[in-house]
Amino acid sequence: TGSTLFAPERQNSAGFDLAHRPTLAMIDEARDRFESHRWQAGPIIAGEAPAGETAEMNNPARQHDIVGSVTWASAETVNAACAAARPWEADASERRKVLEKAADLYEENFGEIFALLAREAGKTLTDAVAELREAVDFLRYYAGQAEGAPPIGVFACISPWNFPLAIFTGQIAAALATGNAVLAKPAEQTPLIAFRACQLLHEAGVPETALQLLPGAGDVGKALTSNPAVGGVAFTGSTETAQIIHRAMAENLAPGAPFIAETGGLNAMIVDSTALPEQAVAAIVQSAFQSAGQRCSALRCLYVQKDIADHFLRMLTGAMDALRIGRPWHISTDVGPVIDAEAKAGIAEYLAVAEDEGRILKTTTTPDTGHFIAPTLIRIGGIADMEREIFGPVLHVVTFEADEIDAVIDAINASGYGLTFGLQTRIDDRVQHVSDRIQAGNIYINRNQIGAIVGSQPFGGEGLSGTGPKAGGPRYLDRFRKHAAETASE
Ligand code: NAD
Ligand code: ALA
Repeated sequence: TGSTLFAPERQNSAGFDLAHRPTLAMIDEARDRFESHRWQAGPIIAGEAPAGETAEMNNPARQHDIVGSVTWASAETVNAACAAARPWEADASERRKVLEKAADLYEENFGEIFALLAREAGKTLTDAVAELREAVDFLRYYAGQAEGAPPIGVFACISPWNFPLAIFTGQIAAALATGNAVLAKPAEQTPLIAFRACQLLHEAGVPETALQLLPGAGDVGKALTSNPAVGGVAFTGSTETAQIIHRAMAENLAPGAPFIAETGGLNAMIVDSTALPEQAVAAIVQSAFQSAGQRCSALRCLYVQKDIADHFLRMLTGAMDALRIGRPWHISTDVGPVIDAEAKAGIAEYLAVAEDEGRILKTTTTPDTGHFIAPTLIRIGGIADMEREIFGPVLHVVTFEADEIDAVIDAINASGYGLTFGLQTRIDDRVQHVSDRIQAGNIYINRNQIGAIVGSQPFGGEGLSGTGPKAGGPRYLDRFRKHAAETASE
């Protein structure tokens, strides 16, 4: 039944209690140790990596802070790694032990990991703690499911910068738990974290031929997804890139090669006139602005019933005034920077158009330096006005009449995306009705709509938001394994 996967002995990482002074002091000490450290990263392949170009990585909150340097993989490196890749032949219990050991090593190295997450990816302390927990949870949860059908062979794991540890690790842990060889391609914005994570996985006992790292941009991903040695692809990133990869796979890989894509969303929340405003406002602020809105799950389009809209939006804008925007390492910071200059420029351009059109309902201020974008509310007519996912702290607001709720849901469904959805109501029947009608992978009632917990809240979208199966759920590893029919025909 799969219920054993949710058995009581499964435990999520305890994480770190930031309200506990000695814990905070321990984290502060780690911050001091890694505050000016410079990491070095490059391809990790089984054999010698050909020379490649190098680049310096900067802190998105303070560009003059050089976090480290990276040597990029070349097309030649990709080919060498593909040729050297070997499925992990250890039996399931050994794979489980090694991945659990890796989880322990991640936790032991928390200080360095928090420093990397803050300085390379701009993560606030709260986000860094949650991210380490999620990565550790993926390792332990998938390790617990190592037993099963044989692996596909060689998996390419291509990940985004917004969860540079958790998603990077989750994909790899799934492919390794099932015995595949992994060729990991982290996002070009966050190679240093990926490199350190790979080192810890190797230190735990993953063989070099079973896990190789190929830092680089889209061209490296393209070379990887076009190499016939690759038997399957796990991808998390934008819907547009997923479509490009799907085409490359169709042209170059074996027919039927599995493609697991977890992509973007135009995520909505409906607040009706019975919602508890204090709870709804807190949920909206977290969902839209935590992680500077750089979560695929983040709330992008808020529907508020007209009867309460004036009062409710006053409360919401008041809560936005209380947000602290600034340097990620500080315990009091709520909103950190966006990832880089390009992301900032793209969002700023979008906001400038909204400003010219007089649609900005509320914005706040940011520090003068660093890639910061102020949390902002924009008025729009409906979700259909949103042409694309704006990946930052920008929330669109729409009002609706009491009798329009079904039309609102139909409009949300018509966007074609289906990742997260939130509902704030105190009408019991409405919870069922709306949940039945909405097409979204993860539905959250009377709470925030971010931060799915591995093993408890399998995460993934429908339509343009992903192919399934859901990450952190009992069916995820099936796609990394051969099916019974394939095994029988061999
Ligand atoms: P992206 O699509 O730009 O890049 C993702 C990865 O794909 C990177 O490693 C990139 O180098 C690689 N890539 C780019 N072009 C490629 C190509 N032609 N072939 C192969 N690989 C290629 O996305 P991003 O900006 O890194 O991440 C943000 C996006 O990710 C957002 O759309 C967000 O919604 C989505 N996301 C989804 C989930 C989810 O679980 N559904 C989670 C996190 C992020
Ligand atoms: N799993 C992440 C969340 O739920 C993306 O916010």
